[in-house]
Amino acid sequence: MNPIRTALVGCGKVGQIHAAALCTLPESHFVAVCDSQLERAQAFASRYNVAPFDSVEEMIRNCAVEAVMICTPHPLHDQPCIVAAESGAHVLVEKPLASSLAACDAMIAAAENSNVLLGVVSQRRLFEPVQRMKAAIDAGKIGRPILGTFTGLSWRDEAYYRSDPWRGKWATEGGGVLVNQSPHQLDLLQWFLGPIDEITGYWSNLNHPYIEVDDTAIAIIRFRSGALGNVVTSLSQKPGIYTKVHIHGESGASVGVQTDTGATFVAGVTSIVEPPTNDLWTIPGEEHLLPKFQAADRDRCRQIDPTTHYHALQIQDFLRAIHDDHPPLVPGREGRIVVEIFSAIYRSNELRQPIKFPVI
Ligand SMILES: NC(=O)c1ccc[n+]([C@@H]2O[C@H](COP(=O)([O-])OP(=O)(O)OC[C@H]3O[C@@H](n4cnc5c(N)ncnc54)[C@H](O)[C@@H]3O)[C@@H](O)[C@H]2O)c1
Repeated sequence: MNPIRTALVGCGKVGQIHAAALCTLPESHFVAVCDSQLERAQAFASRYNVAPFDSVEEMIRNCAVEAVMICTPHPLHDQPCIVAAESGAHVLVEKPLASSLAACDAMIAAAENSNVLLGVVSQRRLFEPVQRMKAAIDAGKIGRPILGTFTGLSWRDEAYYRSDPWRGKWATEGGGVLVNQSPHQLDLLQWFLGPIDEITGYWSNLNHPYIEVDDTAIAIIRFRSGALGNVVTSLSQKPGIYTKVHIHGESGASVGVQTDTGATFVAGVTSIVEPPTNDLWTIPGEEHLLPKFQAADRDRCRQIDPTTHYHALQIQDFLRAIHDDHPPLVPGREGRIVVEIFSAIYRSNELRQPIKFPVI
């Protein structure tokens, strides 16, 4: 395929991972970067030999950009995404799609009206242990999935929240652990268990007095299929312990993944050192496969850099989706479901009642 002319908006921490992928993928011709702080764009531009801008519209027009990656803080995803879509560029947005449902709806409408693709990053879907679980569930190997759990026991310290002025505040981050550290596993739960009927949730700030937002949240989910699920997600364990998603089937069999060991990585600051791996596999006749899966996952992580590899795979999927004219791995409408989930948990906590889906 002819390389697609690519650019990114937001030359910060995760922007480095996108830039590295955009200048190495054969599907990409990386041409430009944009940041509201022009000096940040200039620093990226000289490192990656592309053109710097502080206006998305000008960047797309001057460099004939065809696909844009949005790597700005969550409440600032919608504005550059809408400008890019209305300028005719396809848009891949960092997670979560946005921090409000109104912003998601405006982004989805802009992409649909301009006939461009809108995707959202959820690179943990591409972890091999996660792909194995999805294949087993879809093949009916655990029967109907009836119970799912997402347990995230992680840690962020004061230095992390002081590292950027937008972190830890409702106005500029849009939320806490639910909005920033949990979208990947919330996405996996809904990917494995399907549409949601109702959520009851609570959030709290247990041991981060220097931030406004949630450092811990729990939720009970009833899925439309009748399946049940729960969420325990926290940044209050020092050191961080693990993040896991487990799915149990009607047959009694279970499959699970430990997506993260210790505290989840901070893009551009720390790396994934332990391989994501299956930690649970009780499908009859396949129990002996678990150590083999774990060995394969360890071997793979010695050959690739897991901190950047899965981002590159998802960006590659997005560029191929543009070329082949099919939906990307995670379309904007699926990214909206994650925003619906955390919005429902916040609303349930506020109203002290279950929240029915769809959430408007
Ligand atoms: N998929 C993942 O694993 C992953 C990992 C880390 C971060 N993220 C997501 O990436 C996004 C950015 O996080 P980060 O840690 O890189 O933040 P960051 O603060 O390091 O970088 C954000 C950059 O955006 C720029 N910016 C802000 N407003 C802008 C605007 N209106 N137009 C252009 N540029 C603007 C800032 O100047 C900054 O350079 C967040 O949504 C976060 O959730 C995803």
